[in-house]
Amino acid sequence: MTSLAEQSVHDLGGPMSVLTRQKQDHVKLDRLLSELAASAPAHQDRVLRRIYRLVFPHAFAEEAVLWPVLRRVLPDGPELTLQVEREHQEVNELVTALESMSLDDPDRPATLSRLVDVLREDVRDEEDELLPRLQHAVSPAQLTRLGLAWEAVRRVAPTRAHPLVARRPPGNSLSAVPLSVIDRLRDRLDGAIQQDSGRGRPALATASRLLTTLSHEVEEFPPFKRGEHPATHR
Ligand SMILES: [Fe+2]
Ligand SMILES: [Fe+2]
Repeated sequence: MTSLAEQSVHDLGGPMSVLTRQKQDHVKLDRLLSELAASAPAHQDRVLRRIYRLVFPHAFAEEAVLWPVLRRVLPDGPELTLQVEREHQEVNELVTALESMSLDDPDRPATLSRLVDVLREDVRDEEDELLPRLQHAVSPAQLTRLGLAWEAVRRVAPTRAHPLVARRPPGNSLSAVPLSVIDRLRDRLDGAIQQDSGRGRPALATASRLLTTLSHEVEEFPPFKRGEHPATHR
């Protein structure tokens, strides 16, 4: 099985293939992780936000579109996908922990370092094992169709960590609509807070905090936990 890292766009099924799209995002993530490593602690949050906006919709679309297909077409699909769902779950938990820590929290360096390790581990598992296995199991036309479906879901998916919802359908798909609306509103508010150094800032910060609380409450809704494999939490 040849890793995606060693294949050309042509080998991966062309520019529309889900494999090419996956690899492009993984390359972007690698660049952002290098940027993070070179950033002083005071500037890390800005890079982290860009990482979150890349990885959460990316992973959500994997869980909703790709892993159900792998479970159908590969005899060991359930074990393979459980492994990456556990990595995604740990990323959700680590990011939630990081967001509650101050810059001088003594646990922050270890939490951040673990986050980087799990993100890299997830990319390697996908590029070296899961996605080459998918490549052998389906036709190039199916890889293109999956690429379109994955991209469509990625564009409307939640953009933040949600450790309480299921990593599998139907829970994750059901939760996507309210969580995506809330996340994208929070992204806009947080962007406005960064731009606004004047009087509007406290009101924007209050609105952002209210949306954060609302998002946690939405995550608790029992139907959004449906479909979860009990071993997803490490
Ligand atoms: Fe991926
Ligand atoms: Fe992933």
